[in-house]
Amino acid sequence: MDDLYRELILDHYQHPHHHGEIPDADISYEDSNPLCGDKIRIYIKLKGNIVEDVKFTGKGCAISQASASMLMDELIGKSLDDIKKMDKQFILDMLGIPLGPTRIKCALLPLKVVKAGVYGIHTWPDEEEEE
Ligand code: FES
Repeated sequence: MDDLYRELILDHYQHPHHHGEIPDADISYEDSNPLCGDKIRIYIKLKGNIVEDVKFTGKGCAISQASASMLMDELIGKSLDDIKKMDKQFILDMLGIPLGPTRIKCALLPLKVVKAGVYGIHTWPDEEEEE
């Protein structure tokens, strides 16, 4: 079973889905894996509260890039609240192979960036009201 998942991960790494930029994205955020310095930037285009389109750029190992590619597939059609509920286990189930502590950081980087971007947009209205 692991082999199937490994092949899937390699395929996403070699042919990433939703790779690129969205110039008029509603959410754009970048962060890095502190262990290796690899960076991922995500772009999210919303329709109301729902993700209409997503893209990502950046560089990293096979696990981080495959995790980003698979996560982009998952995000389309989801609400911002759905995204806030996604957790470490969601990513581990999505990748489907056991990962050591270092590799888990790689696997979680894309979700970390997506969540930071999503929580970021939700603080904007409050900040504007306070000004
Ligand atoms: Fe850098 Fe995996 S080694 S993200």
